[in-house]
Amino acid sequence: MKLLVTGGAGFIGSNFIRYYLCRHAADSIVNLDLLTYAGNLENLAEVEKHPGYRFVKGDICDGPQVAGLFEKERPAVVVHFAAESHVDRSILAPSPAFETNLRGTFTLLEAARQYGVERFVHVSTDEVYGSIEPPQEADENYPLKPSSPYSAAKAGSDMLALSFFTTYGLPAVVTRASNNYGPFQFPEKFLPLMITNAFEDQPLPIYGDGRQVRDWLWVEDHCAALEAVAGRGRPGEIYNIGGNCALENREAVGQVLRVTGKPQSLLRPVADRPGHDRRYALSSRKIERELGWSPGVQFPEGLARTIDWYRSHPEWVRRVKDGAYREYYRRNYEDR
Ligand code: NAD
Ligand code: TYD
Repeated sequence: MKLLVTGGAGFIGSNFIRYYLCRHAADSIVNLDLLTYAGNLENLAEVEKHPGYRFVKGDICDGPQVAGLFEKERPAVVVHFAAESHVDRSILAPSPAFETNLRGTFTLLEAARQYGVERFVHVSTDEVYGSIEPPQEADENYPLKPSSPYSAAKAGSDMLALSFFTTYGLPAVVTRASNNYGPFQFPEKFLPLMITNAFEDQPLPIYGDGRQVRDWLWVEDHCAALEAVAGRGRPGEIYNIGGNCALENREAVGQVLRVTGKPQSLLRPVADRPGHDRRYALSSRKIERELGWSPGVQFPEGLARTIDWYRSHPEWVRRVKDGAYREYYRRNYEDR
């Protein structure tokens, strides 16, 4: 079977490609990625010589290129990760999130409709539900109330994917995962930012009171869930994928300090993120019931593994935290 993975040079996509090729020796993967600031072919060094793997540089918004790729490769399954994935960047400049997450998804759906696929897995996020009041948790029928340009564009792309199922019978499936963590995550996101700053004895910027709740999902657990959805997910359905590890940010960063042996004095409360969602909480009962998936790695174990990985990859961290990263960091944090 041939898969088209989009955004496979990013954090989750690269973990997925490694995970999938290890377990499906007879299948092949074409990875379509634009290599934006978040895309990094170093993340795929382990599989670049795998006979079933091929990289294509390209933009999911480029209709003719995407159609040409479908015509040539005829993938049976699409697993669509490519996105502008960071809330803070979407607040600083919302247009790329709109273009990539919405128009890019539309372009892929159109090509998949034209050439036909067995399944189109649209990888989305719990952020489309917006902030959830305790003690509620969102199941797949929970109303959508996205707060950021990032999550609004993701919610729109979810609706597009589902409309292509309803209208054209395209076998699209939408997944909504909670906050992922693990190796190869770009250090603009909370945990790798805190871990790599702690290594460098740099301040750890905590938005607002730090009592926002996120549900942490070990990235390989997410990959296992996506493997199940790509193989057996029901077309037209939505599957939530939660980590069952809800923590306040201040507790999560406290654990980072404990494991790295760094002092509390590194914590730096800064101005809150505009529109900051207070709490995410997912019910994953549907995927557990239908596809027999549940998360395997708890936060303390996953965090220790993540910290070990960043500690043992200083060159990766150094290259990723380059001049463009420092410029982003200045724009996002300087005046907080
Ligand atoms: P990431 O930012 O690490 O990677 C995104 C990848 O997409 C990069 O390789 C980038 O080069 C590529 N890309 C961006 N624009 C492109 C374009 N126009 N054409 C082709 N490729 C393009 O993102 P991630 O954290 O790995 O997230 C992957 C997906 O999972 C996203 O759709 C995101 O919404 C979703 N998701 C992420 C999380 C999380 O915690 N990171 C949680 C739930 C869902
Ligand atoms: P993030 O990794 O950006 O994921 P998301 O906003 O998509 O959940 O942020 C996770 C949480 O950490 C979120 O509540 C915002 C908070 N946060 C900080 O407190 N400081 C930071 O520097 C960053 C990047 C995030």
